[in-house]
Amino acid sequence: MDRALADCVRAAADPDGFLCPQRPDRTVPRLREALVKPLLSVQQLSKSYGALKVTNDISFDIAEGELFAIIGPNGAGKTTLIHQLSGMLSADSGQILFNGVDVTQQSMPDRVKAGLARSFQITSILPRFTALENVATAIQARRHSSFRFFDRVANDEGLNEPARAILNEVGLDGRHHVPADSLSHGEKRQLEVAIALATQPKLLLLDEPLAGTSHDESRNITNLLRALKGRITIALIEHDMEAVFALADRVGVLVYGRMIAAGAPADIRANAEVRAAYLGEETHA
Ligand SMILES: Nc1ncnc2c1ncn2[C@@H]1O[C@H](COP(=O)(O)OP(=O)(O)O)[C@@H](O)[C@H]1O
Ligand SMILES: [Mg+2]
Repeated sequence: MDRALADCVRAAADPDGFLCPQRPDRTVPRLREALVKPLLSVQQLSKSYGALKVTNDISFDIAEGELFAIIGPNGAGKTTLIHQLSGMLSADSGQILFNGVDVTQQSMPDRVKAGLARSFQITSILPRFTALENVATAIQARRHSSFRFFDRVANDEGLNEPARAILNEVGLDGRHHVPADSLSHGEKRQLEVAIALATQPKLLLLDEPLAGTSHDESRNITNLLRALKGRITIALIEHDMEAVFALADRVGVLVYGRMIAAGAPADIRANAEVRAAYLGEETHA
């Protein structure tokens, strides 16, 4: 192996060093694929409600640092899949390996402790607490390895300092002292991401973060995801195809509980089965 290629192998093996300055060609992605073990590996995951197979024999991997988007029509099973990954819903069958560990039977708090965090869609927000108190409380909960400590955390600089940094990171600078229920819809979505970041996740699960947001809010959240991308591995469910194809490293397509395709955005766009099942008819909510 020549020297430049050896450097590429080292870069590919280093989770922080995906780039290969010596040889910016197609060798690196292939080496990376071969060398970096998946952070998440889902194998034949299924969940049924009665006769309805909501997630049906789903298998896919997400590599460390990757932004993997999951798209599909309404009712395809996307939210159910995210619930199964987070531990909110159990699996009927199949396996979820996270960071090399089988977490299929683990509780949600144990998965959060292991670094698998879901952004909880408004419900995780304490509406009368300020944005800062919400994030400080989430940091406190992590440090106590429990989610039952909801005491007011005012004046604790050990919590407030990292909480301020996270709020600034998600674009809520200047909004630290606003009660959560006075934030706009888009700002609440940013706060949810901040609360999830407070658990120091390795993998962030996001279920339609752009839903119901205005044009400006959507742009802010897309920018936030772009900034997080690469630093944190992300599984993103999103209907906004412009955002998905701009952000995703790979896209998985779920239709009637089955992942019918997964691959690079350009390949998914060109896939005839995907176009017929989903991208052709953009009339979904
Ligand atoms: N608790 C449940 N009981 C029965 N059916 C459910 C339940 N949760 C979801 N479903 C059904 O499973 C299918 C997939 O739902 P969901 O995962 O929310 O899809 P998506 O997020 O892709 O729109 C839908 O047909 C929905 O009605
Ligand atoms: Mg859904």
